[in-house]
Amino acid sequence: MSAPSQTEFSLPASLTTAKPKVALVLGSGLGSFIDRVEVAASVPYSEIDGLPVSAVPGHAGTLHHGEIGGVEIVVAQGRVHCYEGWTAREAASLVRLFHQMGVEALLLTNAAGIVNAEFAPGQWMLLSDHINFTGLSPLTGSASFIDQSEIYSQELRQILQATASELGLPPLAEGVYTWMNGPEYETPAEICMLRTLGADAVGMSTVPEAIQARALGLKTVALSCLTNYGAGMSGEPLSHAEVMEVGQQAASQLLELLEQCVPQMV
Ligand code: HPA
Repeated sequence: MSAPSQTEFSLPASLTTAKPKVALVLGSGLGSFIDRVEVAASVPYSEIDGLPVSAVPGHAGTLHHGEIGGVEIVVAQGRVHCYEGWTAREAASLVRLFHQMGVEALLLTNAAGIVNAEFAPGQWMLLSDHINFTGLSPLTGSASFIDQSEIYSQELRQILQATASELGLPPLAEGVYTWMNGPEYETPAEICMLRTLGADAVGMSTVPEAIQARALGLKTVALSCLTNYGAGMSGEPLSHAEVMEVGQQAASQLLELLEQCVPQMV
């Protein structure tokens, strides 16, 4: 297996001179963040050689390049997941692309189920740490014995909390995210087990990207939109439609915070 190279991806002409310092990966629901960016170029993933493209209808993905608050950024709308059959290395491709472009700080967002009953649907949770329950790693095939003691940057978390406070928002919840492979949601017994193990939330993305970012030296911060109680916690069955709807509603509250924070991340 080859190590990440400086030229793993071939960029189209509209991106060859881009020098972004910050990258965002938008989970579903946060697409309207793009309206706040001065966009210079928007490129479908299919035009970036080397980037995996999801076959799921509506998930093909677009990379936007532009500026926010005077800082050059790239914003990835859409990601591929291991439950689609991609490897963890493929699921972390966007991060290697960001690194190739010179990005130094990364903000990841996702939708997640609640494991800690003190949290409520519609809330955002800053990841303080994660549990990788899949046994998969984007670093498989290399002897990358990287340190993960501070996988999510304290410094960036503090910027988000301080900015939330300046905007008059309540403090963001912080907690431990568990990566499950999916695509099926968990069983009630699995949610109980995850709680016993110290998890606060559960989802099917983000961890491969965070591990890859750590390996490449990018500072990372991640936010989960808590869309639903984990299986067995509310007596209601889980539905993808509900996850999407709650995600959309909660997204609007986060846009202002992200707009203010992103320029401070470098
Ligand atoms: N489990 C796993 N992934 C999820 C969930 C969940 O309950 N909600 C949103 N993504």
